[in-house]
Amino acid sequence: MKDISIAGIGEFSGKTVTLAGWLYNRRGSKKLQFLQIRDGSGTIQAVVALADVGEDLFELASGLNQEASLRVTGEVKPDDRAPSGYEMLVSGIELLSDSVDYPISPKEHGVDFLLENRHLWLRSSKQHAIMRIRGTLISALREFFDDNGYLLVDAPIFTPSSVEGTTTLFEVEYFGDKAYLTQSGQLYMEAAAAAHGKVYCFGPTFRAEKSKTRRHLTEFWMLEPEIAFANLDDVMEIQEQMLEFVTAKVLAKHRDELERILERDCAPLEKVKAPFPRVHYDEAIAMLKEKGQNLEWGGDFGGEDETILTKAFDRPIFVHRFPSAIKAFYMAPDPEDAKYSLSVDCLAPEGYGEIIGGGQRADNLDYLQERIAEHNLPAGPYEWYLDLRRYGSFPHAGFGIGIERTLAWLTGRQHIRECIPFPRLMHRIQP
Ligand code: 4AD
Ligand code: MG
Repeated sequence: MKDISIAGIGEFSGKTVTLAGWLYNRRGSKKLQFLQIRDGSGTIQAVVALADVGEDLFELASGLNQEASLRVTGEVKPDDRAPSGYEMLVSGIELLSDSVDYPISPKEHGVDFLLENRHLWLRSSKQHAIMRIRGTLISALREFFDDNGYLLVDAPIFTPSSVEGTTTLFEVEYFGDKAYLTQSGQLYMEAAAAAHGKVYCFGPTFRAEKSKTRRHLTEFWMLEPEIAFANLDDVMEIQEQMLEFVTAKVLAKHRDELERILERDCAPLEKVKAPFPRVHYDEAIAMLKEKGQNLEWGGDFGGEDETILTKAFDRPIFVHRFPSAIKAFYMAPDPEDAKYSLSVDCLAPEGYGEIIGGGQRADNLDYLQERIAEHNLPAGPYEWYLDLRRYGSFPHAGFGIGIERTLAWLTGRQHIRECIPFPRLMHRIQP
């Protein structure tokens, strides 16, 4: 008989089926054993009754260890109390492989221990739910862009130069030369936008962040759209529509996992509807000063500043027009006042802070050359990028959304290390 999947078990109500999985938990008495079985697609309770199965099978069931792999046969019965809506009355069990002294028990463990055992921790119900939601977030983001006329263009991982400043570059030896792991695919997307109009890339990006905050990974995934003939206002509108779309998708598909397993209050997510408040950098500084933050005009926000700002609103906000001096070299100057840039960060509510960074790109050749020099960047590796300003330069704008930070907010996690399958942190590259 072919194994069925727990997610699709409803189709087999009243029938006898076989499924394969792992024992998540077991409790019971001398006459009844309740096995929680997970197969990746879901979890189901399988009931083993001594009176039905006889002594040998009952003994096997009573001795099953947590995470043993097994194949179970039984009748599918509707059960209102079960999260899947069904339970199974077992008639047969085949132990495939035992699991002795599984290190992660249902009791609390320290996070270092769990991270050491990330390869096993992934099986736990909360971690399972987070990864399922990550999958939906990524496919919803891609759907949004695919359905709105954008072309997926892959950016390289080995790069000759920095995008987001030289202090967070990972250097690699490249046949006797130096290369860097990409910080962002943006510069390549600008070239692709001149070929295709609306494009995006999606892939891993790297930052040698010497920070141990709950918001920083050294390897994270980013989706970066770039749009020809778009301006700062356009990218804010696209971000609003995108976040509204993906949040609705995640709620529609994962409400049960969010509420029951992750204990995430979904009410704030219901409010993710355009328009989002737009806050000028100057206004943000004034708000922060009023709240007693020690921050002068010209400074960049720290995590705490972002937390304070977002708590003043009930939905994501845009902070726009950061001083040019604190933003990357490629940001367009505000035509009204060049000390500001046409940049925008989107900050997630409930204290989460920045999840998206972007804006309008400098399209003037001379200005961009000056900025590259000001940033002490070597001119050579940017010549190809400057060509985009030599041959039909065009106004354009784009942004990058960090998957892990967005997921941490959606799932209500305190730290983004749980939002990527195998986190890479300053002090962790295992497992
Ligand atoms: O603000 P950032 O640095 O912007 C860029 O890289 C632009 N080139 C994107 C673009 O316009 N195409 O990064 C964008 C987002 C941040 O808002 C954050 O969500 C995420 O990437 N991010 C990180 N996530 C985890 N760990 C880190 N160290 C991150 N650095 C940035
Ligand atoms: Mg940023």
